[in-house]
Amino acid sequence: MSRAAVLAGLGAMVPERAVDNEEISRIVDTDDEWIRTRTGIGRRYWADPGTATGDLAAVAGRRALESAGVDTVDQVILATSTPNRPMPATAPEVASALGLDGVPGFDLSAACAGFVYGLQSAAGAIAAGFAERVLVIGADIWSTRLDPEDRATAIIFGDGAGAAVLRAGDAAEPGALLGFDLGSDGANRDLAFLPAGGSRQRSERAPLRDADNYLAMRGKEIFTHAVERMAGSSEALLDSVGWTAADVDRFVGHQANVRILHTVADVMTVPRERVVVHLDKVGNTSAASIPLALTDAAVEGRLTPGQKVLLTSFGGGLSWGSTALSWPDIKVSGIETA
Ligand code: COA
Repeated sequence: MSRAAVLAGLGAMVPERAVDNEEISRIVDTDDEWIRTRTGIGRRYWADPGTATGDLAAVAGRRALESAGVDTVDQVILATSTPNRPMPATAPEVASALGLDGVPGFDLSAACAGFVYGLQSAAGAIAAGFAERVLVIGADIWSTRLDPEDRATAIIFGDGAGAAVLRAGDAAEPGALLGFDLGSDGANRDLAFLPAGGSRQRSERAPLRDADNYLAMRGKEIFTHAVERMAGSSEALLDSVGWTAADVDRFVGHQANVRILHTVADVMTVPRERVVVHLDKVGNTSAASIPLALTDAAVEGRLTPGQKVLLTSFGGGLSWGSTALSWPDIKVSGIETA
């Protein structure tokens, strides 16, 4: 027997308002064909005014608790780069909305890699005996941070939330998280960042420009780093858990651009038909992207018990992370807004 964190429940959601490529092409100079060909994205969902990241996180969190058949956990971790407020953390508010007052909750900031970072943190707490069950949520609302004059970001990002319940179990069980490979590269922090709101910008005392409130991204460079880091991290992870690329039944990578996913799969020699693609329906949902893709694949029957699943994520920071599991027999409901 070896104590490990086991996936016990999964839940995800997108807000109600679907935004297709036609609508995006009325905001920035682009068109449906360019977006589909260059990114694979067909639509995304944007939250209505008045909705905050924590609201989406609470819905996904509730669905994950229902999926696991539990009503309480020992910790709530919220991975987000778009918290309700810069301070305090949003996780306590989410815990409260879920009837979990008193349970420790904290935010984790690792951009699009945040969910996998959250899984590792939860797995560590479970392995150490600090927790029996942890709720890990990834949620972001980037739609209000998109520069209406920047077609690189406006076409990609969508809002959403996804969550998992991890429970203490045995490393030999289906659903056990078998290992982790995480990394970061702060030298490349300027490839994707939000200029306003932090101590760097405040201490420079430069006047705030409108554009400082919007996500700044150097798409081409991010693309190259994403391929290199996701492939490298995935290969390191496979080595550490004793799998080969041929063992991987489903490859679930961060959903930013289908060309990135296919290139990573090609580099690793994982057949493209084993790549889970969800960005066509929801765009890049940042920290929510992996649990949203998992939920959709489970509901659609693309993920079935016993399959070997590799997760890998990448985002601003730069930050990246991978983990692997055999898919457990869990009940999962759809991502639509109830
Ligand atoms: N619609 C139409 N044309 C566009 C366009 C758009 N939305 N965006 C760029 N173009 C044009 C450019 O002006 C350029 O034209 P030119 O050749 O006449 O100069 C051409 O298309 C190629 O531009 P480029 O920036 O090289 O496009 P790209 O193929 O790199 O695609 C991204 C841009 C943003 C889709 C792509 O770089 C990407 O997905 N990057 C990764 C982003 C990511 O992973 N983010 C998540 C981590 S934060």
